[in-house]
Amino acid sequence: MKYKAIIFDLDGVICFTDKYHYLAWKEMADEIGVYFDEVINNRLRGVSRMESLDIILERSEKEYSAKEKEEMAFKKNELYKKLLMQMTPADLSDEVKNSLDKLRAMGLKLAIGSSSKNTKLILSRIGLEGFFDEISDGTNITKSKPDPEVFVKAAQMLKLDPEDCLVIEDAEAGIDAAVAGGFDSAGLGEASKHGKVTYPLKSFADILNVVE
Ligand code: BG6
Ligand code: MG
Repeated sequence: MKYKAIIFDLDGVICFTDKYHYLAWKEMADEIGVYFDEVINNRLRGVSRMESLDIILERSEKEYSAKEKEEMAFKKNELYKKLLMQMTPADLSDEVKNSLDKLRAMGLKLAIGSSSKNTKLILSRIGLEGFFDEISDGTNITKSKPDPEVFVKAAQMLKLDPEDCLVIEDAEAGIDAAVAGGFDSAGLGEASKHGKVTYPLKSFADILNVVE
C-alpha cells in the first residue's frame, strides 16, 4: 500500500459543522453591527478561531482591543458549543462511517488533523470518541493552517514520516498546509480544485480507490 496512515481534517470532511460556525459568528457579528455572510464564512474554513474573528472584523470600522476580541471569540464559542449539542451520531454519514471502517480493516492508521479546539467534543457528539489512533487539533498547535504544524504533529504522534501519510482536506488552506509539510493530499469540495492537490475526490468514499 502507498500509505501507512490517513490524516483527516474534521470540519467539512468527517462532519459538517460549517452551518453551526456560521450561525454562531453571524449572531456575534449582528450584535456588533458588522456585515457577515456565507461568502465571508467560506474564508474561515481551516482557519483558527482568533484568525477567523480577524477576518470578520475586516468589515468593522471600530478597532477592538485584544481583551474585547478574546471576549467576542469566547462568546461565539459558547454559542457554537450550544449548537453542537444538536449533533448526534446520525450526523455521521453512512458513507463516512463505512469508509473509515474499510480503511481501518486495510490496516491503515487513522488520525485527525484539525484546527478546532472543539475536536474531541465534536467526535463524541457523532459517536467517534476513541475511534482515531491519534488526534492533533487546535489544542496542540500554535500556528493554524496553511501552516503545516497540525499535520506534522499528527505524523509525529503516529511515529511516521509525512510521505507515509495521506491528508484529506476540504479547505484550500488545508491543502497548502499539506504541501508545506511534505504530505500527499486528497481534496474534497473546493480543495479538489486546488492546483497542488494530489488526488481530487468527488466524494469521501473515493479515498478507498486512492489507497488501494
Ligand atoms: C476548523 C474550521 O476546523 O476549526 C474553522 O474549519 C474553525 O472554520 C477552526 O474556525 C477553529 O475551530 P474552533 O472550534 O476551535 O473554534
Ligand atoms: Mg475543513
